[in-house]
Amino acid sequence: ALGRSTSPKSSKSSQMSQNRLKIQASYKVAILGAAGGIGQPLALLVKMSPLVSALHLYDIANVKGVAADLSHCNTPSQVLDFTGTAELANCLKGVNVVVIPAGVPRKPGMTRDDLFNINANIVKTLVEAVADNCPEAFIHIISNPVNSTVPIAAEVLKQKGVYDPKKLFGVTTLDVVRANTFVAQKKNLKLIDVDVPVVGGHAGITILPLLSKAKPSVSFTDEEIQELTVRIQNAGTEVVEAKAGAGSATLSMAYAAARFVESSLRALDGDADVYECSYVQSDLTELPFFASRVKLGRKGVESIISSELQGLTEYEQKALEALKPELKASIEKGIVFGQKEP
Ligand code: NAD
Ligand code: LMR
Repeated sequence: ALGRSTSPKSSKSSQMSQNRLKIQASYKVAILGAAGGIGQPLALLVKMSPLVSALHLYDIANVKGVAADLSHCNTPSQVLDFTGTAELANCLKGVNVVVIPAGVPRKPGMTRDDLFNINANIVKTLVEAVADNCPEAFIHIISNPVNSTVPIAAEVLKQKGVYDPKKLFGVTTLDVVRANTFVAQKKNLKLIDVDVPVVGGHAGITILPLLSKAKPSVSFTDEEIQELTVRIQNAGTEVVEAKAGAGSATLSMAYAAARFVESSLRALDGDADVYECSYVQSDLTELPFFASRVKLGRKGVESIISSELQGLTEYEQKALEALKPELKASIEKGIVFGQKEP
């Protein structure tokens, strides 16, 4: 997708590869909050996708420059910019995937829930526009607190009569990316081979890596399990503290979000072998929303993989029960907010 330099003699093969890219690129992706810390590197990574024909960048300010800059990359997608609410509807029309990283990030000492008051309103307003303009699109919610913003989005879509639970996703890919990295480092494994499912939600103890289900199968001591689990749960805070007031994870988040976008586009394109962990409406537990591995297809979530919650270790089973009250409260908070009259 990055393209490469070719000698003048190789114009034929270059033409062929251009044609191949042209044929593949057919999906439209919108990023809402595109001028932000996540939005900019995410836009760059999505611009590199051969599956994307148009990249719509929306923010309340500063998006023109980002789009002008990005539009000079010689990859297939056309980049368009949209500023402010007056341009939001046009940004969303005809879009297949909408990614929402709009909102404020944490500072040291804050929980993700401390962002609720500001970000809940932002997500509500943006999802209302999605419902009005591209109700069929896959919606990827990044804005925190994800445990609550996804239920908010669901309520908004229900009120608009367009809720399709198979197409609403809380992006928890970063938890999987972190788990894979930390396990590979700890066990000296080749990164490419490591895949750790992470279930539950996306805050503190609601983030539950299932180390017993890691691939390749790895054995851990009790101490290693405790240390890795806590590190994965606190990895967001690790970055918030290192940035010391300048925000939270942006680059690793953009990487993770781009992976989730690419998986969604492959699923839309008919690839029958696409699996990702995501926070979705779920009947895996008694909670209405729960992150787990799901199979993605053309219509969104094709199935929720229940087998990974079976045969948990005692440690994982206890952690699963322990996370439920917090996740339940965050979901209920989101539902109450989402049901409020404007
Ligand atoms: P940022 O402040 O750098 O960028 C946010 C962008 O949102 C800004 O450009 C801002 O102008 C824009 N924005 C604000 N209100 C808007 C609105 N009404 N419409 C459109 N755009 C609007 O923040 P960031 O570091 O990019 O983080 C964004 C969000 O993502 C935060 O809530 C953060 O907590 C969350 N986050 C989630 C994960 C995850 O794993 N799900 C990971 C990292 C960060
Ligand atoms: C993360 O996990 O990095 C994000 O949710 C941002 C944060 O506040 O930690």
